Amino acid sequence: MAAIIEIDNLSKQYDGGTKALDGVSLSIDEGEIIALLGPNGAGKTTLISVICGLVTPTGGTVRVGGHDIRKDWRAARRLIGLVPQEIALEPFEKVMNCVRFTRGLYGMPRDDAYIERILKALALWDKRDAATRELSGGMKRRVLIAKALAHQPKVLFLDEPTAGVDVALRREMWQVVGELRREGVTIILTTHYLEEAEEMADRVGVINKGNLLLVRPTAELMGEFGAKTLTIELDDPLPAVPEALADRGLSLSDDGHCLHYEYDAKADRTGIARLLGDLSAQGVSVRDVSTRQSNLEEVFLSLVDGTKESAA
Ligand SMILES: Nc1ncnc2c1ncn2[C@@H]1O[C@H](COP(=O)(O)OP(=O)(O)O)[C@@H](O)[C@H]1O
Ligand SMILES: [Mg+2]
Repeated sequence: MAAIIEIDNLSKQYDGGTKALDGVSLSIDEGEIIALLGPNGAGKTTLISVICGLVTPTGGTVRVGGHDIRKDWRAARRLIGLVPQEIALEPFEKVMNCVRFTRGLYGMPRDDAYIERILKALALWDKRDAATRELSGGMKRRVLIAKALAHQPKVLFLDEPTAGVDVALRREMWQVVGELRREGVTIILTTHYLEEAEEMADRVGVINKGNLLLVRPTAELMGEFGAKTLTIELDDPLPAVPEALADRGLSLSDDGHCLHYEYDAKADRTGIARLLGDLSAQGVSVRDVSTRQSNLEEVFLSLVDGTKESAA
């Protein structure tokens, strides 16, 4: 699959000195949905703004559809639609008109049949003659998407499309994204909801302090971090993990009362039966066992914490 966006060693230092992007490289395939996950201030909006030509990078390059966003910005910009983080609409403008107008801004010929199609896809057709100020928050967001799609871009950026949005509306948004995917639009969305990334994205990129910490297929990430921990509560505390079990990847709690064993729940052999047998053979008496699955949230936090430590 051909890359539609190629980001190479991109940096952005704002005038105040904040380094919002620190050498980010990423290639995004046509038709892909990628979620950029990161806490507030991670650099997500800056990354999107640079690609969309709203913020000038201090280093590195970006190509969209093969066009350099600085040297060939007009061609690059034509391929891009952006749904900004903040809702900003002309309050008295009618829905249909504001989408039509946006299309005109890109120098595209009027095409009401196309606009009808996107308004219908976004469940806004009934509201086409309503002024935007009359719409609910969810509808306003969908108008922003319609505006971003007005010039038929190949790449759509959604900057925190569901921040501060209730659960029902969030699901609705996911459906809209699903529709767009079927149309073949490449989508880059930012979020700090892990569930959202998991639900929608083909790949997840984790960004923190201007660094892209990892980019991986969502399924792979979920599989890998779907590791479970078995906690073995002991009748009597141990001073250390028994010598004979040193190679099993066990860890002992500080008070010596619990052994923790991490295993892959999807593997053919988890090694639990053997472990319990061997503990018994070592004369370690077990009071109780319990399991717990780590989730993407923990993975994310551990990654983000990891950079804090390495930066310190
Ligand atoms: N226009 C700006 N001028 C100066 N600093 C900025 C500007 N925009 C963002 N920043 C800073 O850059 C960092 C990244 O911000 P941003 O890209 O908005 O992150 P995110 O979207 O992940 O929350 C933050 O420290 C933020 O304060
Ligand atoms: Mg942001």
